[in-house]
Amino acid sequence: MVQVVRTTKELQQIVKDTKKAGKTIGLVPTMGALHEGHGSLIAAARKENDFVIVSDFVNPTQFAPTEDLAAYPRTFAHDCELAEQMGADVLFLPSPKEMYPSEDMTWVEVTGRITQVLCGRTRPIHFRGVATVVTKLFHLAQPDRAYFGQKDAQQAEVLRRMVKDLFFPLEIREMPIVREADGLAKSSRNVYLKPAERKAALVLSKSLFAAQKAFEAGERSTQKLTDGTRAMIAAEPMSDIDYVEMHALPELTPAHGTVDCPHLLAVAVRFGTTRLIDNVILDPSK
Ligand code: PAF
Repeated sequence: MVQVVRTTKELQQIVKDTKKAGKTIGLVPTMGALHEGHGSLIAAARKENDFVIVSDFVNPTQFAPTEDLAAYPRTFAHDCELAEQMGADVLFLPSPKEMYPSEDMTWVEVTGRITQVLCGRTRPIHFRGVATVVTKLFHLAQPDRAYFGQKDAQQAEVLRRMVKDLFFPLEIREMPIVREADGLAKSSRNVYLKPAERKAALVLSKSLFAAQKAFEAGERSTQKLTDGTRAMIAAEPMSDIDYVEMHALPELTPAHGTVDCPHLLAVAVRFGTTRLIDNVILDPSK
């Protein structure tokens, strides 16, 4: 039975007891509205750790005032069911006041190109909010491993860098993107899509898969692979492109011109008012 915990104090006591018993802890940070993508993270955490904590907190500090904080889907009863089904031990459901008790803030900010490209350009405060709340969660849950999805590949890179820079004694585990049967990447924001937008949004996975196919057939030009993806998306009349870009991994350094090491091909596109992201990793060693 999953235990629902609402206070930091209660969570800290559980973590203390768990550590004392010599158990390893897996943490799955989420903003709730859980879907199969989150399910795969919880399943991986269950497999690799003795104790699994899932946090479910719509973090206000990673949303700009113009973004969808108020509208963000909140499905606590369903989240409890899924967390339980996937074998979580604790579902941490704090209030904003519990996570941010004072208006005076301590921020954690990863600076430089890694947070300035891709989503960092149109969402300048986003990664500071993510790094701050994830730091709080790491201190509270003291995980041995923390689980994130490749769909938010930039987030995973930023958090890996934060873990390295701040000497957090834990491993970031990045899990593959989970997709609908027709290819659309699972996302809590998919519920916003009107039927015609949902259909149009399939161009994201189609264009990325086409790039992957071209790459597998031997195309190595970062320019050609990026341009091909952008052209396919732009041909969809309902799409409004935020970015279609390639960056080298790890740490999102500038693309090399030739895909001679793992590169991230990432897209962010609006369909109506809904902004979706998706990506593929092109890895010449595979
Ligand atoms: O990926 C998310 O859902 C959020 O950015 C995270 C990591 C839970 C921080 O609020």
